[in-house]
Amino acid sequence: MKQSTKKFLLLVLGCQMNQADAERIEMILLNLGWKKTDSEREANLIIAVACSVRQSAIDRIYGKARQWQTRRKAGHLQAILTGCVLTKDKKKLGLQFDLIITAKEINQLPEIIESQSVLTTTDYLCLPAHHESTFTAYVPISNGCNNFCSYCAVPYTRGREVSRIAKSIITECQQLVAQGYKEIVLLGQNVNSYQSGRYNFPKLLTALNKIEGEFWVRFLTSHPKDFSLDLINVLAQGKHLTPYLHLALQSGDNDILKKMNRRYTAEHYQKIITQARKKIKNLTVSTDIIVGFPGETKQQFEHTAELMQMIGFDMAYLNRYSSRSGTAASQLKDNVSKLEKKRREERLNKLLKETALANSQKYLGQTELLLVDGYKNGRCFGKTASYKIVAFSGKKSLVGQFVKVKIIDAKSFVLSGKLA
Ligand code: SAM
Ligand code: SF4
Ligand code: F3S
Repeated sequence: MKQSTKKFLLLVLGCQMNQADAERIEMILLNLGWKKTDSEREANLIIAVACSVRQSAIDRIYGKARQWQTRRKAGHLQAILTGCVLTKDKKKLGLQFDLIITAKEINQLPEIIESQSVLTTTDYLCLPAHHESTFTAYVPISNGCNNFCSYCAVPYTRGREVSRIAKSIITECQQLVAQGYKEIVLLGQNVNSYQSGRYNFPKLLTALNKIEGEFWVRFLTSHPKDFSLDLINVLAQGKHLTPYLHLALQSGDNDILKKMNRRYTAEHYQKIITQARKKIKNLTVSTDIIVGFPGETKQQFEHTAELMQMIGFDMAYLNRYSSRSGTAASQLKDNVSKLEKKRREERLNKLLKETALANSQKYLGQTELLLVDGYKNGRCFGKTASYKIVAFSGKKSLVGQFVKVKIIDAKSFVLSGKLA
């Protein structure tokens, strides 16, 4: 193919893990001389990075792929599917793509696309990335999951958990800080079970916290069953480590947690948060919750609402249960109606707005350090170390910088401030 016609488009759905994979794919293609385009008509290579957490995300890929078929059949387009795809969907989507590869196989793209063998690493987690942002970088530390929560597609799409070697993570982070990156987000399905040689997750964070420079470290996501006191003590040291915890609760009812195969109780979850709040100053907590899990009664749902109220989350990602083929829960009757799932989600959303507002109001009058990450019509947007969003009047040139802002107004999910 002529150099000038080598144009690729990435269609990325799902979580930050897929975003991080896409950044690695982009680097491979740029190194092969391909140019990125946002136009599907212009592209002669489309790589879709799919998410299977809900059926709607897979249906979206299916719908998109159907639009490409004329150009594909005429030989003007090659379409590759990767990311998280369940076996059942591979069968259905197989006809619309030239190839389906797992995330672990993206290091084989040079051979697949151009019959070239140019990469030196066989571990896809260690591949260099072309980061979307010039100040925030996603750094994967593990891939896959061993937990088999009964509703979840991930262990089937990403396979068993594999930890990336610590030296490679530490070196990448050192390089990112030297390049001026201000925020490093460590990614894994369960960062708490990270283990590579003598490094567990608290030890890895301790090593990253020794890197000199002005930057923050965040991580996603944590599993309550593996969350240790050791980790709380390390986070309490601060410096580059931020007082923000995303810890998925999923349900506040012990019987539902058991059916979900989460392997902790509501009481254990609450204990972690109490211990963490005691030791980590100004800690904010966000979570994931599933409403309408098969068999979830009104009373069981109320247990989730009660726990949410008691904990007082700053943010919660509320998901209506969606049956995923091949998972243990797909054998159970999805018997909570769509309308009832919607009602439960709305109820929790209302609760969340109240607890988030009460937490936000504690910031009033305080001066906070922010990393500015957005700009629109004379307004800058940034996040505090504790991951609270703050809007203030400022110039576009502040994007990617740390600034100090005095908080003058507080809504549930956005604070307003003035440059200090
Ligand atoms: N590893 C993370 C953890 O354990 O917290 C979660 C990763 S999962 C890909 C992201 C979120 O999607 C989950 O926390 C859960 O709330 C939601 N989710 C997963 N499977 C789901 C399903 N079948 N229906 C609805 N929500 C689901
Ligand atoms: Fe899915 Fe559970 Fe693994 Fe999270 S911990 S990715 S919810 S199986
Ligand atoms: Fe993420 Fe979706 Fe896969 S949430 S890990 S992209 S199934």
